[in-house]
Amino acid sequence: MRVLVTADLHYDAQRSRAPAQALAEEVLRTGGDALVLVGDTASAKHEPLREALGLFDGFPGRKLLVPGNHCLWCLPGEDSIRRYEEIVPAIAAEAGFCVLDHEPARMDGVALAGSIGWYDYSYREEGLDIPLEFYRAKVAPGAAEKLPEHRHLVERFQGQLGDWHLNIGARWMDGVHVRMDMADEEFLEYVLKKLRRQLGELQADAAVRQVLAFVHHLPVRELVPEGRPPDIAFAAAYMGSDKIGHVLLGCPKLTHVFCGHSHWQGTHKVDGVEIINVGSTYLEKRLEVLDLP
Ligand SMILES: [Fe+2]
Ligand SMILES: [Fe+2]
Repeated sequence: MRVLVTADLHYDAQRSRAPAQALAEEVLRTGGDALVLVGDTASAKHEPLREALGLFDGFPGRKLLVPGNHCLWCLPGEDSIRRYEEIVPAIAAEAGFCVLDHEPARMDGVALAGSIGWYDYSYREEGLDIPLEFYRAKVAPGAAEKLPEHRHLVERFQGQLGDWHLNIGARWMDGVHVRMDMADEEFLEYVLKKLRRQLGELQADAAVRQVLAFVHHLPVRELVPEGRPPDIAFAAAYMGSDKIGHVLLGCPKLTHVFCGHSHWQGTHKVDGVEIINVGSTYLEKRLEVLDLP
């Protein structure tokens, strides 16, 4: 059985379109029993998501995806929970894709489970010494100083911030485009509850001998890129959470986990489970091919 995996097609970004089209051609040439897109297929607008999924019309196997944080970015009047629960699954279904977050796929004794995953700032780089409130607001101190709606944070933490902090001008754009009635830690729990239930059912199902998992965010901190300049290191807080890994590794049938999101290729092995970051960037898309006996 052959499973093809890619991530971060970002088909709404002009610079990603030709690389994503080339990747899709590679997928069709390679062929397989299942294809999984591990998040960030496109952002708020519906049409680029439809177009990206349409690139795989000729793929003969099962077509599966998990959303990424970009897939929950909202158009005016939308809500990210509704995008997660209804809008993205509906667009996916039109193109023949199933969303793994809502139902795992079973194929010849192998189950494919998945989740968007999320973040809880626990991967934040402590060395930056930025108060947690800035991470919640998704602005570094230098960005908060320039944005009237966030300037109060700089005033509140004035005594703890030096010029060095104010030179960190990064922001995490989920703060602008993701809209939900939950804190990030709550949303992480919300999605992990679904994943935990899925894995529990698959573990108990005697017809399933092996489980593969697909999560957009990083399930182990070892995959978070290190030694980056402060503006990029600020984003570590939004890379994922070890809680995702904890839920996944609680399933003894699990053999492989694929993730994306950081645009940084890497692998890490825990208790015999291979955790692979696909590592597509905006300009270079990568395809992982998993051949199972
Ligand atoms: Fe991405
Ligand atoms: Fe992402």
